[in-house]
Amino acid sequence: MSKTIAVIRGDGIGPEIMNATLRVLDELKAGLSYEFVEAGLIAQEQQGELLPKATMEAIARHRVALKGPLTTPIGGGFSSLNVELRKRFDLYANVRPAITIPGTKARYEDIDLITVRENTEGAYGSDGQVLSEDGDTALSQIKVTRRGSERIVRYAFELARRQGRKKVTVVHKANIMKTTSGLFLKVAREVAAQFPEIQCNEMIVDNCCMQLVMNPHQFDVIVTTNLFGDILSDLCAGLVGGLGLAPGANIGTEAAIFEAVHGSAPDIAGKGIANPCALLLAACQMLGHIGLEEQAQRVRTAIRTVVAKKDRVTPDLGGTGTTDSFADALIDALRA
Ligand code: NAI
Ligand code: MG
Repeated sequence: MSKTIAVIRGDGIGPEIMNATLRVLDELKAGLSYEFVEAGLIAQEQQGELLPKATMEAIARHRVALKGPLTTPIGGGFSSLNVELRKRFDLYANVRPAITIPGTKARYEDIDLITVRENTEGAYGSDGQVLSEDGDTALSQIKVTRRGSERIVRYAFELARRQGRKKVTVVHKANIMKTTSGLFLKVAREVAAQFPEIQCNEMIVDNCCMQLVMNPHQFDVIVTTNLFGDILSDLCAGLVGGLGLAPGANIGTEAAIFEAVHGSAPDIAGKGIANPCALLLAACQMLGHIGLEEQAQRVRTAIRTVVAKKDRVTPDLGGTGTTDSFADALIDALRA
């Protein structure tokens, strides 16, 4: 098999962690090749645009992209480059696994859950955002559609089925937000009925926060609307040891973009100490997406091996290593 991936190295620590990630991927000899394209600050300096046309075309052509973090300049034309990419490619499913890796500062052992967040509507639309002339009253609209709810809940159940997961928790606030969250819950129940082999339960979002902190092992797949998913998935990242280990996929009908949850980390950029794991775990999601699940599992196993030994990992995981020593150790583990 051969597959070309559009690769955006990104800003700040982006090129460092991308370099480490691609070295590890190359060790798999899985027939991957890369088309490097630019976005973000580098693209603006070199091509005068934050999101050049050639970059969009490469993502559209290959339909799969691996992306480093992008610094969104304050006061640019876009609210966020990530939001722009999401819109352009209709990346409706934000899939964030939270899986404990032994040897990290995680608060619990053996957490293995996935948040599936609706990524295109809900409270995050730019339509209907109004500030009164005196600046003292603000209004914003929440948009929930049957189509948007249907496809995200279906995505969550199909993911559960594919991965042999047992349970999907639908998180909502339909008791108070009767129209928007109410519609989401109604559609979710209809979709759940089509997956009788997968257990479905419902949970109100505030209770869900408490349950995640007190008893996270009860969760398997969580599906929810945009704002709740944004917050809950960060909470879940915190449960398993934080940003250096949190990957995310943005899946759409036209393309899928895989990235770390964290940003460009300007405070440590250029120092060679950024943890490449979050991006590498996103690359594992990407491998699964293109039918290379076995290779993804090899990388995940290598990460667990190296993190458990600690000596060659980066300072955020309590090691004294560098981005490169971490990648070297992962390559050694893959060869062993
Ligand atoms: P950040 O995630 O870049 O950094 C937060 C803290 O975590 C920093 O102390 C940083 O050193 C640390 N950190 C992050 N990733 C790390 C890694 N791989 N290894 C070790 N330590 C790591 O968040 P911040 O500072 O709020 O944002 C910086 C820039 O990134 C902003 O311009 C923001 O817009 C952008 N950003 C981009 C994202 C994306 O492209 N998906 C997501 C989040 C932020
Ligand atoms: Mg967020």
